[in-house]
Amino acid sequence: MNVNGYPQRTIWPTADNSAVEIIDQTKLPHEFVTLLLESMRDAERAIRDMQVRGAPLIGVTAAYGVALSMRHHASDAALKATCDMLLAARPTAVNLRWGVERMRALLAPLPAEQRAAAAWQEAGVIAEEDVAINRAIGVHGCDLIRAIYQRTKSTVNILTHCNAGWLATVDWGTALAPIYAAVAENIPLHVWVDETRPRNQGASLTAWELGQHGVSHTVIVDNAGGHLMQHGKVDMVIVGCDRVTARGDVCNKIGTYLKALAARDNGVPFYVALPTPTIDWMLQDGVQEIPIEERAAAEVTHISGLADDGQIHTVRVTPLNSPVANYGFDVTPARLVTALITERGVVQADEKSLRELLL
Ligand code: MRU
Repeated sequence: MNVNGYPQRTIWPTADNSAVEIIDQTKLPHEFVTLLLESMRDAERAIRDMQVRGAPLIGVTAAYGVALSMRHHASDAALKATCDMLLAARPTAVNLRWGVERMRALLAPLPAEQRAAAAWQEAGVIAEEDVAINRAIGVHGCDLIRAIYQRTKSTVNILTHCNAGWLATVDWGTALAPIYAAVAENIPLHVWVDETRPRNQGASLTAWELGQHGVSHTVIVDNAGGHLMQHGKVDMVIVGCDRVTARGDVCNKIGTYLKALAARDNGVPFYVALPTPTIDWMLQDGVQEIPIEERAAAEVTHISGLADDGQIHTVRVTPLNSPVANYGFDVTPARLVTALITERGVVQADEKSLRELLL
């Protein structure tokens, strides 16, 4: 998607293939800064500190992390240590495990001296696959937006939560891919952007990328969605996800479940966009089985932003001694999901439909 009118990806190899570059997403929307990842430890830190984030991008960054590591140490022990370290960086997005295990499966049977070249090539393939998958999600999701427009003949209002746009993937995004595809077709639409406390991925990232691409949008506080739905101001909800169980339960950024409840109560369709590598076939009951990342209290107790002096300032918003809990994700049961938008088509959120999709 575009930044300042030019196409941009979130991760790309340097011209000499010695490293990868990323956009440091912790600096957006106030600064556009790129960073060089030269080692596995750089990749692991970028994932842990959320300089890259979003399930698909975490998976691709981890794959490049394995590739960078193999250049220095390609023994079986080094491969295992690398995979273990990357897998521990963030627990919830299954794409991390998917990316690392795909690299391990390719590299483990190879002689050590062949691993570095094979790993670099495979990481590039995974990145390109992500772009193609998201483009296809866009095509299928656009059909849903177009159908609403053909029925209402007025601007389609779409609510989204967190950032599941191109910044969360290599390009296009998942939840926002149908929106970019619809904009390219000149379907009139408007996006309600949940701010997504505590890290404000909606206010900082989704709003920024939609603005860069010229998409009409409005940032709302996280608690406004239900009110807007009650007043007929939301035609559909599209969110991304970090893990989907075999039976279609959806794990996504904290607060997604409440949006699904409000959507159900108001008859608003609730769609989840996902690349099929986000399905965790090993799990059924998302509420009981998906590990939910708990993050630092400082994300809740403090907030950062651009002050009038042009500097980024961080201030405390809670009393000094109030305890804080910071759950990163929640699970929306499949029964609240209208349908899943995948690269292979739009399907019901149940195991039979998901398995048929992959036949
Ligand atoms: O904590 P984050 O910013 O990595 O969380 C991201 C989300 O919850 C996204 O909505 C999800 O990963 C889907 S990304 C296409």
